[in-house]
Amino acid sequence: MSDTGIKMVVAVIRPDKLGDVKQALVEADAPSLTVTNVSGRGSQPAKKGQWRGEEYVVDLHQKVKIECVVADTPVDDVVEAIKDGAHTGEKGDGKIFVLPVEDAVQIRTGEEGPKAV
Ligand SMILES: Nc1ncnc2c1ncn2[C@@H]1O[C@H](COP(=O)(O)OP(=O)(O)OP(=O)(O)O)[C@@H](O)[C@H]1O
Ligand SMILES: [Mg+2]
Repeated sequence: MSDTGIKMVVAVIRPDKLGDVKQALVEADAPSLTVTNVSGRGSQPAKKGQWRGEEYVVDLHQKVKIECVVADTPVDDVVEAIKDGAHTGEKGDGKIFVLPVEDAVQIRTGEEGPKAV
């Protein structure tokens, strides 16, 4: 696989931290992002609850997934920005993953590679 220098940062964060993370990304000069509402679980075991006499299991939590692809902005800056914006110190703050990206195309201009990002 050719190394294009393009990276995708995927982060799963608390929904109420999205505003702080967006602001931190703007300050890190990486304003472009895709946001999806997701549900997921980390390493904590499922919690059992009771509702109207019925037992239920809470094993998935509402989270927000952010995808942020960068070429010129150092990926470490993006990771730091997300960490700063999303951190509370409590369990469930989320995770950040960094992936290589093979190529990018800007549809409007036809530009390809890092310039397209
Ligand atoms: N290894 C993983 N693979 C895929 N998604 C993950 C992984 N770890 C965490 N996630 C996603 O991140 C969300 C938040 O994870 P969470 O912060 O609870 O991780 P954790 O390992 O349990 O750490 P903590 O002890 O701080 O809670 C999960 O709900 C899930 O969507
Ligand atoms: Mg957890």
